[in-house]
Amino acid sequence: MTAPKRKLQSILVTGGSGFIGSNFIRWLFNKPDFTGRIINLDALTYAGNPCNLADIDETWGQSRYFFHQGDITETELVRDIFSQYDIDTVVHFAAESHVDRSIHGPAEFIQTNVMGTFILLEAAREHWRGRDDVLFHHISTDEVYGSLGKTGKFTETSPYDPRSPYSASKAGGDHFASAYFHTYNLPVTISNCSNNYGPYQFPEKLIPLMILNMDAGKPLPVYGDGMNVRDWVHVDDHNDGVWRVIKGGRNGRTYNIGGGNEQHNIDVVKTLCAVYAELKGIDHREIEKLISFVKDRPGHDRRYAIDSTRIRRELGWKHSVSFASGLRRTVRWYLENKDWVETVRTGEYRRWLEKNYEKR
Ligand code: NAD
Ligand code: TYD
Repeated sequence: MTAPKRKLQSILVTGGSGFIGSNFIRWLFNKPDFTGRIINLDALTYAGNPCNLADIDETWGQSRYFFHQGDITETELVRDIFSQYDIDTVVHFAAESHVDRSIHGPAEFIQTNVMGTFILLEAAREHWRGRDDVLFHHISTDEVYGSLGKTGKFTETSPYDPRSPYSASKAGGDHFASAYFHTYNLPVTISNCSNNYGPYQFPEKLIPLMILNMDAGKPLPVYGDGMNVRDWVHVDDHNDGVWRVIKGGRNGRTYNIGGGNEQHNIDVVKTLCAVYAELKGIDHREIEKLISFVKDRPGHDRRYAIDSTRIRRELGWKHSVSFASGLRRTVRWYLENKDWVETVRTGEYRRWLEKNYEKR
């Protein structure tokens, strides 16, 4: 297959101030073959934090990096951004992303993950009008495929079977992205990735929550029997996969990205206890005493595992971060970045935002 001729010069990243989006933007600016500019559109919900990209803003702000606080469900705003920057590529990360929150309040998930995706697709279709040097890359999750039994892995042809409001809303967004390719010939690619870990992840997700609780001497809440399985991948490996799809993926195609690293939740928590104890020079059993089995999440998917053969074969993707070294680096990052933790937990970043952006 010949590589698609995509411009990749004026890239709209949605949700660029969140966990994966901010890591993506930093990762891309560190790549010598990237010469374009990035426009980050982020509503700055509880999960979005402009300090995640303070260094990027310092170096590239107003030359190759442009931040707009705004909601992807605002049609006029999205249209204006397409025109103002003549966007040629969309990398759509923005989403409500936490399963537990979706169980307590699904409405925002439908609004952002389904409506927001639709509004972006519409704006792209209007602005691009049949161009073929453009791309809409939609970021999704393995959770759309549902839950696996003891064996097997999700492939790109696995049927969709979402079981939480979060995964149902992501599935809705995926279907619209795919429909825009088939119906309007909009250049679209989709990637479905497994659980990410790394720096800047909001401390509601398993790994940062456990690190910060152990550091505060608080209980480590493990849902159910702790035997649910997730396939963990380092955020840099995910982003490398995303960039490969954007550069070389075939229009209309889905690519699964997985860690090849299935772990029971309880084993992840125990490994975190061991790494933390070693870094602190204490006995890991002292930390493991904090483990507390709590009531299970309703509809808790038992097992996820991804078959990444397609992206490996077609686009030459492979992991570069082992779970052992990635987890160690991640624990260290959270322990060394207590200011960041305080900032995201206390809303301090809103004041930081006022100081740094709203006067511009
Ligand atoms: P996150 O919650 O850390 O970040 C989401 C970002 O989107 C935040 O900056 C938030 O402010 C922004 N946002 C939310 N609603 C918005 C709206 N209406 N308009 C504009 N911005 C809005 O999420 P994440 O973990 O970085 O996930 C990013 C994407 O990757 C999501 O689409 C998610 O479904 C997908 N994904 C995540 C994982 C994972 O393990 N975290 C795995 C696979 C796929
Ligand atoms: P999470 O990080 O919320 O990601 P997802 O639900 O998208 O997979 O959770 C990862 C796994 O850890 C999941 O099986 C739920 C479990 N979990 C706990 O056991 N305790 C917790 O406090 C959290 C947040 C998650």
